[in-house]
Amino acid sequence: MSFSRATFVACIAVVLCSPAALGQKPAPQPWMNPSLDPDARADLMIHEMTLDEKIQLVHGNGWGVLRDGAPVASRHNGGAGFVPGIPRLGLPDINLADSAVGVRMAALNGRYATLLPSVLGMSASWDPDAAFLYGSVIGRELRAQGYNMSIGGGVDLIREPRNGRNFEYASEDPILAGIMVGQLARGVQSNHIMGDIKHYALNDQETGRNTLNAILNLRALRETDLLAFQIAIGLAHPAGVMCSYNRINGDYACENDYTLNQVLKRDWGFKGFVLSDWGGTHSTVKAALAGLDMDQPGDDNFFSDPLKQAVLAGTVPQARLDDMVHRIVRSMFAAGVIDQPPMPRSVVDPFRGRDDAQSIEEESLVLLKNAGGILPLSAAKVRSIAVIGGHADVGVLSGGGSAQVDSPGGNAVDPKMGASVWGKAVYFPSSPLRYIREQAAPDAHIAYDAGTDPAAAAKTAASAQLAIVFVTQWMSEGQDSATLSLPDQQDALVAAVAAANPNTIVVLENGGPVSMPWAANVKGILESWYPGIGGGQAIANILFGRVNPSGKLPVTFAATEADLPHPQVTGLTPRTGNNGADAGGARNQARNFPVDYNVEGMAVGYRWFQEKNKQPLFAFGFGLSYTHFVYSDLGFMRSATIYVTFTLRNTGAQAGDEIAQVYVTLPASAGEPFRKLAGWKRVSLAPGASQTVTIPLDQLCLSIYSPTDDKWTRPAGDFLFEVGGSSAELPLHQTIDLDSARLAAVDLPNK
Ligand code: BGC
Repeated sequence: MSFSRATFVACIAVVLCSPAALGQKPAPQPWMNPSLDPDARADLMIHEMTLDEKIQLVHGNGWGVLRDGAPVASRHNGGAGFVPGIPRLGLPDINLADSAVGVRMAALNGRYATLLPSVLGMSASWDPDAAFLYGSVIGRELRAQGYNMSIGGGVDLIREPRNGRNFEYASEDPILAGIMVGQLARGVQSNHIMGDIKHYALNDQETGRNTLNAILNLRALRETDLLAFQIAIGLAHPAGVMCSYNRINGDYACENDYTLNQVLKRDWGFKGFVLSDWGGTHSTVKAALAGLDMDQPGDDNFFSDPLKQAVLAGTVPQARLDDMVHRIVRSMFAAGVIDQPPMPRSVVDPFRGRDDAQSIEEESLVLLKNAGGILPLSAAKVRSIAVIGGHADVGVLSGGGSAQVDSPGGNAVDPKMGASVWGKAVYFPSSPLRYIREQAAPDAHIAYDAGTDPAAAAKTAASAQLAIVFVTQWMSEGQDSATLSLPDQQDALVAAVAAANPNTIVVLENGGPVSMPWAANVKGILESWYPGIGGGQAIANILFGRVNPSGKLPVTFAATEADLPHPQVTGLTPRTGNNGADAGGARNQARNFPVDYNVEGMAVGYRWFQEKNKQPLFAFGFGLSYTHFVYSDLGFMRSATIYVTFTLRNTGAQAGDEIAQVYVTLPASAGEPFRKLAGWKRVSLAPGASQTVTIPLDQLCLSIYSPTDDKWTRPAGDFLFEVGGSSAELPLHQTIDLDSARLAAVDLPNK
């Protein structure tokens, strides 16, 4: 091809007379008009994209920093994932960071990140505002570190109390889990960061997670595990939903037409994009047609050239590829990552993060036992304390895996600069011992014993007025615990200390429920979860009464494995190693084994215990306060929705928060012979004060799902409503037929 003189002159004219050459700003690209809605903006931009550019957006660019030796792109921000943008169209890169309980891999990048309490801990606050704050800390720090997408937001139900990832999840109850994680994701997105909800769905154990087939009938699936996702996604409208590793009723979660196309996208109207868990994609055409929109981390090549060829061959319609790209780009516009990109040169404020983490933890600590009112401790009366175990002299424990946050200054039990190592327990420098010393009288004698030798610990305990034993349970992605027992003979440690000192208090730092064979022999038990970077101080504040405990269990604590629907973790054999170690490794995985969740079906957690008439060690919703609350005057009202009302009075001598809970048992025809959480409110009351509490009930809580009709309906008949401070103690109750009952009409917002 040769240029004519006329063409040459025309080209020069275009260059010389371009807006830039004339000193004018180029006309803004039409999709950069913020007054257009995100869908319109995405369509305008996608119209200009080539096929290759579209393909580039629907997969990550490899394992990057996650795998030794994998290439790392120059604009990669150092997180778990990277999708290059399209500079000529003004589309930024997507930099994704694991951020379940704080931003992961900060140290690797020379940065600081706040360690929040575990998600399960935060959920024990039952405080949606605390959940929002939690997410906003994550969003704020992602932004300061230059990321524009979070891949946290775990909302899988706690069906398996020994699951290694329970600390990343929120509850065994779908309403509590859905609301808390939905608020968390809203908090993330309030910082113009794309949020995510994961792992969709039934990723309820780590043993065999890449191959197992989770089996659950559709009604139970919709009313339990999927309901948690439905609520969270409905609240947050997250940019992403991460499909999980496992199979669901036969098909892998990332190529499951039922969960992705039919439920998530059609029934719930999800407008964002589905991204695979890392390595969770198993096909090109099947996954694309089933609703997967982005393959991560992408080095498996399912959504790169093979997808391009499938589109060219017509086995994946062009419209489906356009839909994938539309979902990604519209989510970027909707979250604001294009109009308000992160500013990587800002820095994280560690003090603000620490204060937020501590205040969330102070609402999340659960006082499980307080015999004889041993707590709160009085600095004036306590002359000596033996603090034992749990590395309480240097710090607090955190959870592992992709939720691991790097500890400032390195692991507090072995301080070396640098990033955390997968598979190793990391302690954060927030020493409970230090804050106990600070709050005790200056002349009180506070001794510390590491707790490695029960006999020596008992000796230290015997010579003190009281003993505080810190026990720990390290949990991580990739492995489950084989039992509910605390590891490393810590039960024997507590038993020895309790035998030596009648005033023994146990503080737990754990990933999920544990058994406590010594519970009857100690006076106090305080559940601190993984308490986060403000944990040491928060624990001391509760022990000495500067803060009145108010958290309630978001999960049942069984007395023994024999009481669980699955007395053993399905598929976990001695071959998978002590305490479940290596269960996530491909070598030790059984192939495609079933995990039959129909055993308990809808009766997850506390519902199972009620249905089977078993006594838990500590019930769902339970938690003590230093004050007392009395419930009275149950009533009902109706406007657009149904409300439960009652009076709550603080009859004790100090201010406190009560988490008042409403449970419903549906009419017998529903076939659900157990109470279910239907609503709650966290109420602050001064001593002697009372309040009329009004709690709206979502129709979903009063309805059942019919797979045949594919819809939710409220069954006819008598509904039993129960109200109180724990699923096992519900002083108010009334049975009403919602269709015939004449409920007082009120004009209240349906919130
Ligand atoms: C985890 C995800 C995580 C991803 C990226 C996977 O192993 O299951 O939760 O986001 O890795 O690190």
